[in-house]
Amino acid sequence: MKKFVVLASGRGSNFKAILNEIKNGGINGGIVAVISDHFDAKALEIARGADIEAIYGNPQSGEYNEWLLNLVRSYAPDYVLLAGYMRIVPKEFVAAFPQRIINIHPSLLPSFKGLHAQRQALAYGVKITGCTVHYVDEEMDTGEIIAQAAVAVKDGDTEETLSQRILEQEHRLYPAVVRMLSEK
Ligand code: GRF
Repeated sequence: MKKFVVLASGRGSNFKAILNEIKNGGINGGIVAVISDHFDAKALEIARGADIEAIYGNPQSGEYNEWLLNLVRSYAPDYVLLAGYMRIVPKEFVAAFPQRIINIHPSLLPSFKGLHAQRQALAYGVKITGCTVHYVDEEMDTGEIIAQAAVAVKDGDTEETLSQRILEQEHRLYPAVVRMLSEK
């Protein structure tokens, strides 16, 4: 049984997709805690509803990074899953969990790193984009790629319509990767 800790800043739909896969018996493990830098993150609400420890940390506190590292360490997780976590992971954190921090990004990396990846894809005019699950290293969105899913850009796509179709693939891809990791 693998132990996962989830870090999330917002609506938590990827976390929810992973949770559903766990409930359906597809993952050999469980989520032991969800930690957020936003006290009102929907992800925390979902965690509470599922009887998973839901913890808020104030990123303005000045000790956030140390606090987070110690907290996550205290769970001794096999993997740390970033699911819409909108902060850069400090290098001490990366060093503490080498090849054990996973992220999902809404583009086919190495294209369109950083914020608003779907908007960047539309602005560039690519015909195919998608999502990537990757290990987290010290740079943003550069770690080793684990899996990708492609999504065709349609004529007339807006940031919203494209994001929605990518999100559907995210909800398929991330649980599949967690399932694979749980069997390692
Ligand atoms: C997703 O698009 C993910 O790829 C990106 O942030 C978004 C998080 O959405 N890293 P959610 O919180 O999982 O709904």
